Amino acid sequence: MKYIIAVIQPDRMDEVLQRLEDKEIHLVTVSSVMGRGRQKGVAEVYRSHKEAGSLLKKVKLEIAVNDEFVKPTVEAITGGARTGQIGDGKIFVFDMEECIRIRTAETGSMAIG
Ligand SMILES: Nc1ncnc2c1ncn2[C@@H]1O[C@H](COP(=O)(O)OP(=O)(O)OP(=O)(O)O)[C@@H](O)[C@H]1O
Ligand SMILES: [Mg+2]
Repeated sequence: MKYIIAVIQPDRMDEVLQRLEDKEIHLVTVSSVMGRGRQKGVAEVYRSHKEAGSLLKKVKLEIAVNDEFVKPTVEAITGGARTGQIGDGKIFVFDMEECIRIRTAETGSMAIG
């Protein structure tokens, strides 16, 4: 099991969500966040709303998946978020130890989706 965190441009979120749905990936947590990459929020300002100091508005997606869904998830996010310009975002993939559906007490792969 993996936990995938992606930080993308807010205006790419609809396209990314559509591509995730196309691959049957429906369960997701989405947050509005602030961040900066290696340009430190400076050179990218033409494409993002500057939020505070050197921070820019971003969208964070969090998705827990079984191993066979890692590749389609990463492909959906990169396909939907990539424009080729700086600030397109980043994807972080973590090993996930456990997942528990609170209602049923299911665990592991059964609890993910
Ligand atoms: N190493 C990191 N740690 C934590 N958050 C990061 C890291 N790199 C990027 N982010 C988050 O992702 C957002 C988008 O990063 P961004 O796409 O600008 O990365 P980059 O490394 O600067 O690449 P690029 O040169 O393509 O812009 C950042 O605003 C920040 O919120
Ligand atoms: Mg950057």
